[in-house]
This record gives sequence, C-alpha cells and structure tokens, in this order.
Amino acid sequence: MADQDAQSPVGSEPAGLSVLRWEEPPEGPVLVLLDQTRLPAEETELVCTDVPALVDAIRTLAVRGAPLLGIAGAYGVALAAVRGFDVAEAAGLLEQARPTAVNLGYGVRRAAAAYWAALDKGAGPEQAGAVTLAEARALHREDAEASGRMARFGLDLLDELVSGGSHRLLTHCNTGALVSGGEGTALAVAIGAHRAGRLRRLWVDETRPLLQGARLTAYEAARNGMPYSLLTDNAAGSLFAAGEVDAVLIGADRIAADGSVANKVGSYPLAVLAKYHHVPFIVVAPTTTVDLLTADGASITVEQRSGREVTELTFPPRGAGDEGTGGVPVAPVGTQAYNPAFDITPPELVTAIVTEEGVISPVTGAGLAELCARSSQV
Ligand code: MRU
Repeated sequence: MADQDAQSPVGSEPAGLSVLRWEEPPEGPVLVLLDQTRLPAEETELVCTDVPALVDAIRTLAVRGAPLLGIAGAYGVALAAVRGFDVAEAAGLLEQARPTAVNLGYGVRRAAAAYWAALDKGAGPEQAGAVTLAEARALHREDAEASGRMARFGLDLLDELVSGGSHRLLTHCNTGALVSGGEGTALAVAIGAHRAGRLRRLWVDETRPLLQGARLTAYEAARNGMPYSLLTDNAAGSLFAAGEVDAVLIGADRIAADGSVANKVGSYPLAVLAKYHHVPFIVVAPTTTVDLLTADGASITVEQRSGREVTELTFPPRGAGDEGTGGVPVAPVGTQAYNPAFDITPPELVTAIVTEEGVISPVTGAGLAELCARSSQV
C-alpha cells in the first residue's frame, strides 16, 4: 500500500514496494519517497521534510513519471500547509520543478485550491492543512483507481487489435507502479495481460539517457514475474522488421487538445516505426494527463536537460544545472549535447488513447474532450 493512512487505503503496488507515503513521526510530518535514482541496485528512501527537498527530488528524478509527479506535488503543498510554510510560494516552486508533465501542476493546483477554499470558509491553519492533506490523499486514491480501470480497458483493446491471444508488447521508459498510486498506466496493461496468461513477451526499451527502461521497467517486470527482454533503443527497428512486436504500449506526460502526445524522448520514433509496420501504437494515460488548454503538440514545453546526461554516464543522474562531481565521460571534453527529455507524437500516429474513462480511436480533439468531460462529471 502506498499510503499508510488506514482511512485512505491507496494503490496496489507490488508486494513490499512503497513508492511514496506520508508519515507523521513525532518531529513532524514528512513525505517518504523511494529514491528511483538508486534503483535497481538499492531500494533506499528519501525523507522530505520540506518543499525544497521535494523539489530537488523531482528535478533529479528521484520521484518521477507523470501521475506520481501529480501526487507528489499535491502532498508537497500539504507538507507546506501542515508545517506552516508559505503555501503560495511552495506551490510556485513545485509547479516549476519540471515543465512537461501536466499532472504536476494539476496536483499542486488542486491541493492549493483546497487549502485556499478551507481558509475562505473560515478554517484555521491547522484545519486548512488537514483539508489539503485529505485532498492529496484523494488524488492518490483516485490515481490508483484510474490505474485499475486503464488496465482493464487496455487489455480489452489489445484483445480487439491483436490476433492470436498472446501478445508481444513493446514499451518505453517506465510506466508502472513507480509512477502511480496503483500499478501504473501502460505497464499496468502489460501486467494485466501477464496475469491473464496473454503476455508472450514484454520488450523493454532501455530508454537513453537515464535508462528508465533498463533500471525501472525491467525491475518492475522482474518483480512481477513477467517474461521480458531488454533492448537498446536502437534495436527497436530490427525488432519490428522481424515481426516480433504486436503492439506498442506507452504512457504520456501531456496530451494536448488535438491528441498530440508528449512522452519520453524516443516515443515518436517508435510511433513512426509502428505506423510503417502496421502495428498498433497505444497510449495509456489518466485524464489528468490531458491538457485541453494546450492546443497542440507545438505548444507543449519540452524539458531540456543537462547535456552531461548524454556526454557522461552518471548514476544517480543529476538535475539540470547541477555541476556535481562528474561521471564517466563518453564524449570529448566540451562536447555540446542535445538532450530533450520528451518528444511529441502527432495524433495521426496514435492508434488509440486509453484512459480511465474509456478509449478513443481514432484520436481526435472531440473524443478527448468528451472523455475529459466524463471524468469531471464524476
Ligand atoms: O522523465 P521521466 O522519467 O519523469 O519521464 C516519464 C515518462 O516519460 C513516462 O513515460 C510518462 O510519465 C508516463 S508515466 C505513466
């Protein structure tokens, strides 16, 4: 269970894995994070007692992945509220920690709105803090529920699109329990296929430069007992050509109003390959990842990270601008690098978007808007 509050049971994370939880030791409330920069070698935790520590954890990718960033952002606002820090300042810092995943701003704004609304209704600071924490817990719980629903919709879709009943699925980056209140987005669908005896192989892209596939998805696949193989990102082309991929399943960091999908860099080339080879390219994301206020892919801000993530092999990875002590150089000193953290896949390359409210295929702005309207009616 991700959150230890018995009043608010959250999630169905793999046995014994606590990705993010709120704790209240005598010294004061803290947010405890599994440090994802240390995986798979070490399962160590980071204890955030204040918002700057959480912002640092977000920038360095100790906590990462769109849905979890939203949850972390909401708890960060609660941390500020409960500990008596300036909530407006905390919300600003958190929201700006990373630019692309829309969930981060969503979680921060939702928790901050609950805080201000409580104050407006006459609550004292302590009561407003409790209301803010309750909102963060609600988001955490909703994300876990959304994960389960996406897994079911995604599995049904796979059965429709892929013949033979036994799937070879290619995934990129990490979209499992490490990014969610539940079992994740795209990886939750693959886990569902595995449990149903319908996963022949999970192909795991290593996901350069920070290796979320190799370090994190392979870790989760192993924990779940899934049949998986790791490949370099560059090997995907020959895998498609050999007819070894039945569907691509990926997550999203932001889906614009026209259905353009921002996801981990390397997603767009997979979409092009999938189109060429007539393989379904399926995006799995909660409606909290849809941003109807951003018109199209060109309007999405893509995070540019330090070139050192490319010119050096460094573990754990460091946040942009951190000069650190340096990793192992793999390029001549002074080499400039191009290091966007995400790329944009246009809607015409996406076969379907799976959300907790249902599936759209083909991907259209009208379809997306309808799904989002359904989620806000609940
Ligand atoms: O830079 P990261 O590791 O935070 O990027 C994460 C991704 O791109 C995931 O694929 C995306 O957030 C979807 S997670 C459900």
